[in-house]
Amino acid sequence: MCFFYFVSCQKEEPIGHEYKWSLPEEIIDYSIETPEVLPDFLVDTYFDQNSLLGYELSNEAITLGRVLFYDQRLSADNTISCASCHQQENAFSSNVAFSEGIDGQLTPRNSMSLVNLRWNRFLFWDQRESSLDVQVLQPIVHPEEMNTQLEDLVVELANIEGYPALFESAFGSPEITEENISSALAQFIRAITSFDTKYDEGRLIDYANYTDAELRGKDVFFNNRCNQCHTGQSFFQAGDPRNNGLDSDPSDLGFYNVSGNENDIGKFKTMTLRNIEYTAPYMHDGRFETLMEVVEFYNSGVQAHPNLDDRLTEEIEIGGTPIRLNLSQQQKEDLIAFLKTLSDEHLLTDEKFENPFPW
Ligand code: HEC
Ligand code: HEC
Repeated sequence: MCFFYFVSCQKEEPIGHEYKWSLPEEIIDYSIETPEVLPDFLVDTYFDQNSLLGYELSNEAITLGRVLFYDQRLSADNTISCASCHQQENAFSSNVAFSEGIDGQLTPRNSMSLVNLRWNRFLFWDQRESSLDVQVLQPIVHPEEMNTQLEDLVVELANIEGYPALFESAFGSPEITEENISSALAQFIRAITSFDTKYDEGRLIDYANYTDAELRGKDVFFNNRCNQCHTGQSFFQAGDPRNNGLDSDPSDLGFYNVSGNENDIGKFKTMTLRNIEYTAPYMHDGRFETLMEVVEFYNSGVQAHPNLDDRLTEEIEIGGTPIRLNLSQQQKEDLIAFLKTLSDEHLLTDEKFENPFPW
């Protein structure tokens, strides 16, 4: 392994063509139009990051963003890229509870999947950021993630053969600016959409493609309030942060850190359940290794907290008695079978999003 990875193993400046990305001759079509499978009423009602744009999306800028996303030279010691913590084979999340940033430092929270973020109003587990264009620069400068100064990065990229040409094709000028780096990265993230699932197929044909277990699991999901937070229409997430009763005394205060309001202690982003099969471990701190552990948590482990969401209480009252679902083993397994119909296997190997570097 180290033979191919010797650049990062030795933490040295990458040398010559070894570090060269390869891209196809023809410009890749990222289908920046709204995917057809998205139902019209969602297109109208869902927030779309593209509505914030002060610029046009282009396949060329997305391609540049993809190269930047995978380029370890964005970090101070050339060892960490965005993809170090957001791996395609894990639906752009990571398979460890906490990811290693620069100098082996661990992130305080679990890395997040980067799928369908175009339709997300707020970013991060505590929902502290709302603009993708602002967000994508944060890991680059973060001392524990990539630890690079943007002024230095602009100069470094300008001196790397090939980058000025990529910036020119993306933005019409070879000049490299912080705005263009952020725009290209944010455009790449917006392009990562995922609707190629059994669920999306099934919805159009009354789930005739589902097995009996998946059909039963769908009922478990929709009859046990899962869908009231992970809304069953298309995105399986919620816009506002919620307390799902993980801890009676949370050490990570979540959205409270943003709002300063005690009613927000323990509230976190209601993550999408799309591709959940691939994004273990689960929750903001990666505490659950398997979907069965998650299901068991909702079944019997929801903790009391003054901010516990009413949808997870017996009385349907904020801070009420934690709900006990009393699911049978069969129902738990069926529920997991249903969750797996939200998987988009094609996403994991889609060439459009692959690492363009030869390692
Ligand atoms: C060292 C690991 C690491 C690196 C490197 C990293 N990330 Fe992340 N990323 C995380 C973690 C951890 C979170 C969740 C942080 C939090 O909520 O406080 C996250 C969250 C995000 C989110 C928010 C997703 C959501 O659903 O709200 C986006 C977008 C993102 N990262 C993009 C990027 C981009 C672009 C890069 C490269 C410029 C990058 N990340 C580099 C670990 C990393
Ligand atoms: C009150 C709203 C609410 C309800 C109801 C709810 N969830 Fe969640 N869910 C959340 C929140 C919030 C998170 C993230 C919590 C965290 O990490 O702090 C989450 C996280 C998850 C995760 C892990 C996501 C990830 O990427 O790590 C899974 C899986 C999940 N829920 C499945 C379910 C299932 C199955 C049900 C029904 C039994 C359910 N949820 C009911 C709010 C809810």
